[in-house]
Amino acid sequence: MSTAGKVIKCKAAVAWEPKKPFSIEQIEVDPPKAHEVRIKILATGICRSDDHVITGAFAMPFPIVLGHEAAGVVESVGEGVTCVKTGDKVIPLFVPQCGKCYSCRSTKGNLCNETDINKGKGLMPDGTSRFTCKGKRLHHYINTSTFTEYTVVHETSVVKIDAAAPLEKVCLIGCGFSTGYGAAVQTAQVEPGSSCAIFGLGGVGLSVVMGCKAAGASRIIGVDINKDKFPKARELGATDCINPLDFKKPINEVLFDMTDGEGVDYSFEVIGRTDTMTAALASCQNNVGTSIIVGVPPSASQITFNPLLLFTGRTWKGSVFGGWKSKDAVPKLVSDFMGKKFTLDPLITHTLPFEKINEGFDLLRAGKSIRTVLTF
Ligand SMILES: NC(=O)c1ccc[n+]([C@@H]2O[C@H](COP(=O)([O-])OP(=O)(O)OC[C@H]3O[C@@H](n4cnc5c(N)ncnc54)[C@H](O)[C@@H]3O)[C@@H](O)[C@H]2O)c1
Ligand SMILES: [Zn+2]
Ligand SMILES: [Zn+2]
Repeated sequence: MSTAGKVIKCKAAVAWEPKKPFSIEQIEVDPPKAHEVRIKILATGICRSDDHVITGAFAMPFPIVLGHEAAGVVESVGEGVTCVKTGDKVIPLFVPQCGKCYSCRSTKGNLCNETDINKGKGLMPDGTSRFTCKGKRLHHYINTSTFTEYTVVHETSVVKIDAAAPLEKVCLIGCGFSTGYGAAVQTAQVEPGSSCAIFGLGGVGLSVVMGCKAAGASRIIGVDINKDKFPKARELGATDCINPLDFKKPINEVLFDMTDGEGVDYSFEVIGRTDTMTAALASCQNNVGTSIIVGVPPSASQITFNPLLLFTGRTWKGSVFGGWKSKDAVPKLVSDFMGKKFTLDPLITHTLPFEKINEGFDLLRAGKSIRTVLTF
């Protein structure tokens, strides 16, 4: 029996308040309004950006349905939706692509004005929610909300992918892989022969490593305080791995020593800390070096740094979702995965049933997982 047009009762992991475990609850998911799409989620990865909301580092309103790195099948569509239809395999897009705003029209940008990342409203674009639990409205998370059996997104935040794609793998194209890989090949535009330093070797940082390798970098230096991350970084292309805790000198000086006193061509901060953001900036070559901020900055944080670092010519920039225009890029990235142009398997260390979401977060917090994929 079709569920189209009806409220769906289903399971979701609700974050009722900060710093507390998720509760698996029965929620009600409203039908999609005009230009909206209801998706049955079949696989969702756990990204540190979800945990940042729980810790309070990424400020979002509670209660909320988190999750943003997923894949699923369209259950039904609202009036006027033409980009997808019931039964299509899709990936929700935490950076939408409306095609109309300044960033969408710019050939350089990808951060569509419809994104909630820098607003933190936690609602659909019309300012309302499609989720209810125990009579309370739940917030949406960055245009997606995927820790639920069913979600509703705006048509600008979903794209159809190859029907043959394995959803429990390509869900990573919804965030971690694309973010890291794109930061290297698209935002930084790493050139063959260049040197790169990647601060933070989680799912996103390792994807930066893969991007640097694909771009032909000759030196790829992984930096992490958890040495357990090093074997996989080497497997994916890191030529060296260093732990800042093993040195008395600041890590930027260590990186200069390792690169004949020049610093790296490209550095990437993929942790989400202000001290490592400035260390990464100070690690790149003083005139032509570029440093990319990928880690989500802790909310309300400020950075003080010596402007001489930029005066001499360095470039400091940020990269959200790897700089990709999401609707254009995601289906192509899925095709490239199907064509074996890159692999996602090394990033997926754990697969758990959705109900074990808290276990998945514990693994992330303990530094024991790269990506945990939850399946439904
Ligand atoms: N820009 C974007 O669009 C985007 C998208 C996804 C994730 N992110 C952000 O990217 C960051 C990384 O995400 P992830 O899922 O890979 O996280 P993760 O927690 O899996 O990886 C972070 C890594 O940093 C290491 N680390 C922690 N503190 C460190 C320090 N002081 N020095 C060196 N290494 C340190 C950890 O050991 C870990 O290996 C997070 O801040 C996340 O919110 C941004
Ligand atoms: Zn993410
Ligand atoms: Zn737009």
